[in-house]
Amino acid sequence: MSYPNPAAIFTRSWSLYDLLTEHNYMFHREIYAGVDELLSLRDDSPYRLLDLGCGNARYLAPCLMRIPPTLYRGVDLSETALAEAHEYLAELPGEVVLTQGDLLDAVESTAESWDVLFTGFALHHLMTDQKARFFRAAGRSLSEKGWLILVDVVREENQDRETYLEGYLRFMHEKWTEVPRDQLEEACAHVREHDYPEPLSTLQEMARQAGLSHMRLTGRHAQHHTLLFTRSATSAMKKG
Ligand SMILES: C[S@@+](CC[C@H](N)C(=O)[O-])C[C@H]1O[C@@H](n2cnc3c(N)ncnc32)[C@H](O)[C@@H]1O
Repeated sequence: MSYPNPAAIFTRSWSLYDLLTEHNYMFHREIYAGVDELLSLRDDSPYRLLDLGCGNARYLAPCLMRIPPTLYRGVDLSETALAEAHEYLAELPGEVVLTQGDLLDAVESTAESWDVLFTGFALHHLMTDQKARFFRAAGRSLSEKGWLILVDVVREENQDRETYLEGYLRFMHEKWTEVPRDQLEEACAHVREHDYPEPLSTLQEMARQAGLSHMRLTGRHAQHHTLLFTRSATSAMKKG
């Protein structure tokens, strides 16, 4: 089965996503402050991070500056976003590798062991069976004490996709007031076509089946969640 390309909007108009994030319409400020804090809780061992659907890495890059990974690998379908990611990650002292490709292929085919898998606002583009594959691959490719950090939109329990979409599109129309009309409609069409968020319980169950039995909700801003999945409750956490 093939699905329409969810990255098309990012390839054509990365500037639209930049506009949304500059107005903080998806809570990037709070979310990435939370990711920064979360990463600071990791023990001090060197780590390697794979960022799946990295976009231009504009908001993750500053979080990595405090405790930089020895290797950052970013994967995205959008060439435009990756070109910008080179700039945003330029100051990072460790090795930076950026690859154009599909995030599911990348995590399923990686032969390496990763200490942190990060994915921000990308997983909801996958269908349910693909998300299950994503978690299975994450379980395989994470190091023993590895972390999967998932930032994404999540549906309420028992809320169907249609009802979720109604709510999210209403939120966009009410709150995203600084987006020019035609671009707002483009963003709404993208959400309608490509957003397939799951309820928390589904994500948790997929992760559990992949051996990542511990889930922590580390942040929530409306529908936008930050989740940490690990094999055990204390995986690679600083002591004390
Ligand atoms: C909403 S942006 C998020 C960018 C960044 N991670 C953030 O948190 O701001 C989603 C990104 O996922 C990418 N993307 C969507 N589906 C993808 C896929 N199957 N494989 C790789 N990248 C994908 C898009 O190109 C886009 O750059």
